[in-house]
Formats: sequence, structure tokens, C-alpha cells
Amino acid sequence: MKRAVYPGSFDPITFGHLDILNRASRIFDEVTVLIMNNINKDYFFNWKERLSMAKEAIKKYSNVKAEMFDGLLVEYTRKNEITILVRGLRAVSDFEYELQMAHMNKAMCPNLETVFLMTDSKYSFISSTIVREVAKFGGDVSPWVPEYVVRAFKKKHG
Ligand code: PNS
Repeated sequence: MKRAVYPGSFDPITFGHLDILNRASRIFDEVTVLIMNNINKDYFFNWKERLSMAKEAIKKYSNVKAEMFDGLLVEYTRKNEITILVRGLRAVSDFEYELQMAHMNKAMCPNLETVFLMTDSKYSFISSTIVREVAKFGGDVSPWVPEYVVRAFKKKHG
């Protein structure tokens, strides 16, 4: 049984994330989308909102679940007997941070393997940050995020 976790902030979930999730769901037997806290970020959507968007996203998969966890990722993977960590890579600029995290997670939990998946090139410039900025100033974000995220933005921005 190949059990993987796909952790992140998902503030909010984008088509880029969904592209990675789709690939992971085809490679691994079970995938958990894990809503976490990155201490370097202030969040626009709270935990409940981010989880509820992830729950919408996974509806079409029978082997994907969504959860949230506040703590070290390796604690979660140990507790849930997960040995694969999936992260998406868009561009070289992501690499340094991802490499650092992968090594640190490996140092803390030697049997955890980080696997990087590439997003489709059409999503390679999308990030939650840039989508939040466009939405804040009233731009159309529907090409980059699912409908339920567009609605969540509208609700927040009024
Ligand atoms: O989407 P992000 O913000 O790039 O995701 C980063 C995240 C949340 C996966 C990372 O910050 C994380 O793993 N946070 C949980 C705490 C932890 O385990 N930190 C050590 C990482 S080496």
C-alpha cells in the first residue's frame, strides 16, 4: 500500500495544486491533502475555509482524503504510517526551499521520501499568493481556481 501525503498551506487551493493532486492520485494508492501551517505565512483563508475548499476538491477521488494538522509534518506521517511526501514544483525558484524542507524532513524521519511532481506548464506561473492579489483588486481568478474558491473570495471581499 503506497500511502502519500500532499501537505501545504493551500491558501487557497488552485488549479496548479489540483493538477499535482490528480497526478499523485494516479501514482499512489492513497493520498491525503494535508492543510498545515507555514510559520512564515499569514493566512487569508482560515483553517476551516482552507479545509472546506480541499474537501470540495477531493470529492471526485475515491483514494484521496483531506485533513488538517497543526504540528510537525513528520509527526503526522509517523502517526499515520505514511512514507511518501508529495510536493509540487513549478520553477527552479521553488527548488531551494523544497530541497531544504525535503532534507530536514528526511533528517527527522529517515523513512519518509519526498517526491516532487511537476505541474502542467500552463499552471507553472500560478501561486496562491498571486491569485489572492488578483482577487483582492477585483480581477477574474476563475481561470486559475475552481468555482468554489471564486465564491469563497467573493464572500470574503464582499
Ligand atoms: O504551501 P506551503 O506554505 O509551501 O507549505 C509548507 C508546509 C506547510 C508544508 C511546511 O511549512 C510544513 O511542513 N509545515 C509544518 C511544520 C513542519 O513540519 N515544518 C518543518 C518543515 S521542514
